[in-house]
Amino acid sequence: MIYVLNGPNLGRLGTREPEIYGTTTFADLERLCLETGAALGVEVEVRQTDAEHEMLRWLHAAADEGADVVLNPAAWSHYNIAIRDAASMLRGRLVEVHISNIHTREEFRHHSVISAVATGVIAGLGIDGYRLALQHLAPLAGKG
Ligand code: DQA
Repeated sequence: MIYVLNGPNLGRLGTREPEIYGTTTFADLERLCLETGAALGVEVEVRQTDAEHEMLRWLHAAADEGADVVLNPAAWSHYNIAIRDAASMLRGRLVEVHISNIHTREEFRHHSVISAVATGVIAGLGIDGYRLALQHLAPLAGKG
């Protein structure tokens, strides 16, 4: 199982600042991830929450399972140490994904507190970043 976990406001994709995040909806993103998983022969579960405690619970469960995670921490990337601590408990691999290129945007988005505990980071490639993350993880998913 690979978990694709999304933080606050990402459920609003499609209508949220389309000039930055595109017009793809969260349902489209979910479909892309599920289709990519099916094509690669791995089970994928896609979730989104605006609630910190829910994201923490999902990360704890992924840690217990030793599962790989694709995480878009959204705004939490830039300040949330509890999410960072939970991310660093993961025993599987962690790919941090940002739809936009956080480095070309406002200064407060340039630093992610998650990146130092991620296996790798993809930013600025739109929702294609999720597909690329899954392609990277799939061959070894559940084998580590
Ligand atoms: C984001 C970038 C963050 O700065 C922002 O707060 C988001 C989305 C992205 O996917 O580009 O909510 O993580």
